[in-house]
Amino acid sequence: MENIQSRISQIGVVPVIKLNHPERDAANLARALCAGGVPVAEVTFRAAGADIAIRLMREACPDMIVGAGTVLTKEHVDRAQAAGAQFIVTPGLDTELVAYCQEKGLPIFPGCTTPTDYHAALKYGLEILKFFPAEQSGGLAKIKSMAAPFPMFKVMPTGGISLKNLKEYLSCPVIAACGGSYMVTADLIDNQKWEEITDLCKKSVEIVREARSGREKKL
Ligand code: 3PG
Repeated sequence: MENIQSRISQIGVVPVIKLNHPERDAANLARALCAGGVPVAEVTFRAAGADIAIRLMREACPDMIVGAGTVLTKEHVDRAQAAGAQFIVTPGLDTELVAYCQEKGLPIFPGCTTPTDYHAALKYGLEILKFFPAEQSGGLAKIKSMAAPFPMFKVMPTGGISLKNLKEYLSCPVIAACGGSYMVTADLIDNQKWEEITDLCKKSVEIVREARSGREKKL
């Protein structure tokens, strides 16, 4: 069985979701993402009912990979895991939380953007780092510069990714997947525009395919 990290890399994009009405929207959203070929979600703890949303999304689409984002405390980790979260994302590198997740066998992708962060991540044997906030921290140019001394990491840039720059990011072999909210904006979710979400996912999947086939041709 493939691990979570390789399944996320294969999909190539990770919708970053904030759900204000999980009971109303979580199941429909999960189905919309899966119908668009993006069976993965990072559900952020910026909204109070994140754990409820995680549980409902997993129930609606059991084959989907659902993780928790904006995880700031051990209590968040516990709530996420109890709800069925399969991975944890933190905005920065909190080594205590990394160790806590590793003890529990939960994959964690901490936010890292500096050489100091990467050094610390290396000590914990991490393989995929969230590069956050991506565009604001130097974007692809910085990701490539960081890969020179730290070729062991793959990164998941998040922050400022859209259909416009997705292909450029994914064409770089250092990128495991791109995170973003562009296909699950507050407007799309609050107005229950499920077909539009599915459509944005399909467009993203097409870009993943194009970027990766370009990558293979260059090798
Ligand atoms: C995150 O929490 O990872 C980011 O806020 C998502 O960034 P985006 O809204 O620019 O995609």
